[in-house]
Amino acid sequence: PSTELISKLKNTVTTISDFPSKGIQFKDISPIFLDPKLYEEVIKDLADFSRGKIDAVCGIESRGYLFGIAIAVALEVPFILIRKKGKLPPPFIGEKYDLENGSAEIEIKRDQLKPGSRVLIHDDLLATGGTTKAAGNLVEKLGGIVSQFSFLINLEELNGEKKLENFKADIYSVLKY
Ligand code: PRP
Ligand code: MG
Repeated sequence: PSTELISKLKNTVTTISDFPSKGIQFKDISPIFLDPKLYEEVIKDLADFSRGKIDAVCGIESRGYLFGIAIAVALEVPFILIRKKGKLPPPFIGEKYDLENGSAEIEIKRDQLKPGSRVLIHDDLLATGGTTKAAGNLVEKLGGIVSQFSFLINLEELNGEKKLENFKADIYSVLKY
């Protein structure tokens, strides 16, 4: 991203301390959507990273949809929903992952990804990496190639990239904190 885009975004994304629980610095991306021109610049930046390199985008419910669909449309490739457990009609497959306290599960439809497709997995935020790693496992279970990960924000101190290294995929984030 240009230094101009980074500084515009850093002036737009707000940080809220101790939300949703004590010790967490919550990044609120919602002000970006009040500024359509800025949103467009973000999509262009994310789309430029993936242009010509992928056959499909998988976005993770729910905030991964906010940019993911627009990236797919910009690149004229299919968008495939990865949803939280219990939302997709069958046939689907699921993958569990760990949360701070407990575990969660995400699901993807079985019949929407062509085996051998090069996939971008997109989410708004890379924190511990648990969510995107589970998404990568789902894509591989369906015979897809995890080629790229992209994020609006990478919280670098949580080392999420390390959890993704087995995929041998390129990783891009617009903002790093
Ligand atoms: C947040 C965020 C990422 C994930 C990152 O989603 O949008 O998807 O957590 O965390 P991780 O890297 O530690 O796995 P959340 O589950 O809060 O739900 P939402 O997108 O529906 O708001
Ligand atoms: Mg999310």
